[in-house]
Amino acid sequence: MLRSLVISSQLVHREFGGVVPELASRAHLRLIVPAVQEALRKAEISKDEIDGIGVTYGPGLMGALMVGVNFAKALAYGLNVPFVGVNHMEAHVYSNFIDEPKPSYPFLCLTVSGGHTQLVAVTAPLTMSVLGETLDDAAGEAYDKVAKMLGLGFPGGPAIDVLARGGDPDFVRFPRSYPDEENFSFSGIKTAVLYWLRDNPEKIQPHRADLCASFQRAVIEVLATRTLGAARRLGIRNVALAGGVSANSELRRTMGDLAVREGFRLFVPKLEYCTDNAAMIALVAWLKIQRGETCSHGLNPVPNLSL
Ligand code: KG4
Ligand code: ZN
Repeated sequence: MLRSLVISSQLVHREFGGVVPELASRAHLRLIVPAVQEALRKAEISKDEIDGIGVTYGPGLMGALMVGVNFAKALAYGLNVPFVGVNHMEAHVYSNFIDEPKPSYPFLCLTVSGGHTQLVAVTAPLTMSVLGETLDDAAGEAYDKVAKMLGLGFPGGPAIDVLARGGDPDFVRFPRSYPDEENFSFSGIKTAVLYWLRDNPEKIQPHRADLCASFQRAVIEVLATRTLGAARRLGIRNVALAGGVSANSELRRTMGDLAVREGFRLFVPKLEYCTDNAAMIALVAWLKIQRGETCSHGLNPVPNLSL
């Protein structure tokens, strides 16, 4: 059962239009103790009641991972409880297990975040294989870069989501790319938006909503087509979404319609479990502790950890 969830957002990156690694690790250092204290206070438990400590050890930014991993090790050592390193991407998939209904196995998960775009097949508890991933930009990265071009601030995904609701998705037909196998590519769409803005400067202001809707239509069409293709190919009837971009209202709606039409079950995490959160890390840690899969204190961060 989830007792409490604390998210310390780092507004410091806004003025730079992206996450600045050095500032991220400094902010982590500053925020980690108060965040843990607040989580304990909200959960109404003392630290002596903790049964184990889970922490993400990758993929991610080295500096930020170092702060988390070392703090978690020290806490686990001090409390004499099990310590578990969790893969951030595996945890995103398991954000679908925080609340009911939970997906049954096998299921597909489309994980779309600022750093990753992955389609994975989950065949048994904590057993998954990557079917396809982005060869260049992640879907969220494309949202953030297009938002920046339109002067919408950082992170731009939520702003595009809102603006697109009032726009015409057929205003511009941006290219859809389908690389080999079940991989993704979003840099072409992003560059097409850049060129369109360069060539049509006078149309930008009056058509911001239409541009957001058109860009979003292209991205979501690719995500939905690839996911549906894999589900059909493998005969899998359970499909889940995860990652920051799965908070997108149009992606959720499109996949929901597709599920009804194609007869598969769709699982979408609650909004606060889509973007990065500690609940998904704790859940995977708990599953691993129950299986006896704990880690030694020799565990180090792995910034490019894969699934
Ligand atoms: O999973 P996440 O919180 O962090 C990473 O691990 O990257 O994902 C963050 C990404 C950002 O690119 C952000 O713009 C995007 O998720 N995002 C959205 C929405 N909410 C967050 N993209 C589109 N629509 C949204 N509503
Ligand atoms: Zn993430």
